[in-house]
Amino acid sequence: MKKSTVIAMDGPAASGKSTVARLLAKKLSIPCVNTGSMYRALGGLALEKGLNLDEEANLLAEFSKVEICYGRRGLEGDYELMLNAVAADEQKLRSVEIAGAASRIARLRGIRAFLVQAQRACASAGWVVMEGRDIGTVIFPDAAYKFFVTASPMVRARRRMAENGGGTQEELERTAAAIAERDRQDAERPVAPLKQAKDAILVDTSDLTIEEVVNLLYYQVKEAVC
Ligand code: CDP
Repeated sequence: MKKSTVIAMDGPAASGKSTVARLLAKKLSIPCVNTGSMYRALGGLALEKGLNLDEEANLLAEFSKVEICYGRRGLEGDYELMLNAVAADEQKLRSVEIAGAASRIARLRGIRAFLVQAQRACASAGWVVMEGRDIGTVIFPDAAYKFFVTASPMVRARRRMAENGGGTQEELERTAAAIAERDRQDAERPVAPLKQAKDAILVDTSDLTIEEVVNLLYYQVKEAVC
């Protein structure tokens, strides 16, 4: 059997895994695939079209018109999320509304099945860092490396606020509540719930800088990848 070339990185919202995954991939000169962005892109599309987020058949009928993949513009460009060959607007996808819609549709079995193929295809060309909620448990249970990246709920809320330009204590509490609700939704769903794979390495980033986390992971994988 071919040996896996996937570095799976799972964890809850705002744990720092997106930033760590991106920087780790860059340091290793390999692509980084953010599967959350795929769910966000479909959630955003559903909102745009005014679709009911619980009606799987209608959602799938709309989504099946979209070819979703990671690709690069030119030979030197970074890998980007493409929808029908057009790069997605990642900034727009970061809104709280779209995150909520992504989490709602991510509970549906058919929507997850729709994305599995696109996600597995991303690993066909060699080493890749792939981040999400179920990469080490469902998408690539045989991944070469599995990391479960987390941080305390308050640290995660502060990070998400800083990402969005800061805010008041009240906003911090609201952000913490929204993150807690999304964690609950992601962890309690029956299909591909957020959970640490048995063979994943737990990385608690609460008291570490991004650079420290990236280096920690880099030294574990570099011999195999480089
Ligand atoms: O950036 P953040 O960690 O806040 O969220 P994200 O990774 O962009 O994911 C948005 C939502 O998509 C999550 O809350 C999950 O419900 C869903 N998701 C999922 O179900 N499975 C994945 N592999 C990735 C994301």
